[in-house]
Amino acid sequence: MSTSANRGAFIVFEGCDKSGKSTQCSLLVERLNRDGISAQLLKFPDRTTTIGKMIDSYLQQSCQLEDHSIHLLFAANRWEAMPKMNELLNSGVTLVVDRYSFSGVAFSSAKPELSMEWCREPERGLLRPDRVFYLTVGAEVASQRGDFGAERYEKKDFQAKVATMFDKLKDDSWTVINADKAVTELSNEIFEHAMNVINSAQTEKLGKLWL
Ligand code: TMP
Ligand code: MG
Repeated sequence: MSTSANRGAFIVFEGCDKSGKSTQCSLLVERLNRDGISAQLLKFPDRTTTIGKMIDSYLQQSCQLEDHSIHLLFAANRWEAMPKMNELLNSGVTLVVDRYSFSGVAFSSAKPELSMEWCREPERGLLRPDRVFYLTVGAEVASQRGDFGAERYEKKDFQAKVATMFDKLKDDSWTVINADKAVTELSNEIFEHAMNVINSAQTEKLGKLWL
């Protein structure tokens, strides 16, 4: 019996702020569990850990951190989750993850003084997702959604830069999904994609990111 035979799939949702990721992640996990597929929702940053609390106060603009150092904290917040994620995936749980290293690189490298190469480095060797669902909405639509602007990076110009960084990170493990549509229609579309990923991941080994 091989442990990889029944592993769960590792699915990441990416996109700019207010693209509908969090809603769609929750809907997907609910639907999978309803259909008898063991699935769990995770989110980065995980604001509940000691590192996560520092990130949270940075995002809420209650503290200032140097750009390189906040980048490393976001990466550390993923590294600290690796043992648990590895265990869950290998025990057959599908992980639906709201943001991951791609947000890490896209947001930090949208700042003028941080290069994409430098930003990738601390992410190398983390578990590699089986698939990234990249949700796109127009900047205009996103900026009109509920409480846009409340956190540090929620500014239209910055989000536009982040979007160009996401475009550079895209590879053939990404599925680009136009999220500018009704919630239910979108969630049905995503469910179909997710089932394909879950089925094919069972026989594939988990990989490492950017090695
Ligand atoms: P959230 O709104 O999904 O909780 O994400 C918080 C913000 O942090 C969002 O603007 C994206 C940004 N971010 C990074 O800058 N680096 C990262 O590694 C992650 C996961 C998020
Ligand atoms: Mg947010």
